[in-house]
Amino acid sequence: MSKKFNVIQVGLGPMGKLITNLLLKRKNINLIGAVDINPQLVGKHLIEVLDVDDKSEIVIQSNLESVFSQEKVDVVIIATSSSLEKVAPTIKQAVKSGSNVISICEELSYPFQNYPILSKELDQIAKTHNVSIVGTGINPGYLMDLLPIAITAPCQEIKLIKVTRMMNSAKRREPFQRKIGTGLTIEEFHQKLSQKEITGHVGLTQSIQMIVAALGLEYDELIEFPPKEVITEKEFTTSYDEQVKKGYVCGLQSKAVAKNKGKDIIFLDFIAYAGKHEEFDSIEIEGIPNIHQKIIGGVHGDIGTAAMVVNLIPKIMHAKPGLLTMKDLPVPCYTKNLWKNSD
Ligand SMILES: NC(=O)c1ccc[n+]([C@@H]2O[C@H](COP(=O)([O-])OP(=O)(O)OC[C@H]3O[C@@H](n4cnc5c(N)ncnc54)[C@H](OP(=O)(O)O)[C@@H]3O)[C@@H](O)[C@H]2O)c1
Repeated sequence: MSKKFNVIQVGLGPMGKLITNLLLKRKNINLIGAVDINPQLVGKHLIEVLDVDDKSEIVIQSNLESVFSQEKVDVVIIATSSSLEKVAPTIKQAVKSGSNVISICEELSYPFQNYPILSKELDQIAKTHNVSIVGTGINPGYLMDLLPIAITAPCQEIKLIKVTRMMNSAKRREPFQRKIGTGLTIEEFHQKLSQKEITGHVGLTQSIQMIVAALGLEYDELIEFPPKEVITEKEFTTSYDEQVKKGYVCGLQSKAVAKNKGKDIIFLDFIAYAGKHEEFDSIEIEGIPNIHQKIIGGVHGDIGTAAMVVNLIPKIMHAKPGLLTMKDLPVPCYTKNLWKNSD
């Protein structure tokens, strides 16, 4: 008989809900619990919160401890924060209970340089408990790091890797639109960024660090530039019913570059703002041969992130133990038809 993967979901914000919806749809997954600290969610039936037609009787708990039962948990999914320091206690708790961890925490996607001590600690506890920890998502985790890494495979030489994401942020979830400054004045945008009230996009530095590590590239400088606001030329209403006046912020552009001896070797350009404009994900390799791959229309970041997480469940079960990144896992792909006892 085909065996299912036992999974717990931690974090039921817009991303956690998208992930949980997909978990419930997948026949190869057995969702055994859901956790969130938000008092408005704790104690409610999961299906009430998700608004789905499912027979699940899961009640949302305020901590992981109360969900770990006699059943072995294969994977704990964490969708709570971009900050590794904030997510680390939940990761440790899951690992110490013998579960693998998949998180969309951006700082976990390549944590070794920014958090060397914490990374070592996480790696050690994962190895002790014979499980794996990985940070994933669409970006960081795929479009601006893993995919460019894979696209270099037929190259004899590489001079420059340039990745551009251009998206209409109006199609994304509310917290995303807010964290890129939608609806703020220019002054508020810069003030909130400097006071860390909004984060902008997190992950360009981690994506560059993953690419250079995978390709063994030498670099002497990595610069992530401060985000630059994009201003709307016409008034519009957001998906959460807020008016944004002409002249206010409707999104941002974030860039990062790795240089070696004064020359760019990796250049990442992330542009997200509300409005009808071309959307795409593009990877250009300057080398032998030159390669230009363009995903017309782009990949929807929220839908794609939920799928990345759920598709990774069978993959992490076959990964080596420790703190891993996307470049270390078996080739990621659509895994709806893979079971716990599949080869
Ligand atoms: N890697 C990628 O490509 C990618 C893609 C999409 C999103 N993300 C990241 O994923 C995270 C989740 O996104 P979101 O939009 O759903 O965020 P969100 O709106 O902030 O939702 C997070 C939820 O988790 C809860 N929470 C916080 N700390 C918790 C803890 N220790 N234990 C249990 N629950 C906890 C929050 O409760 P409270 O509201 O009470 O704090 C909230 O309900 C964000 O940091 C986002 O940047 C990454």
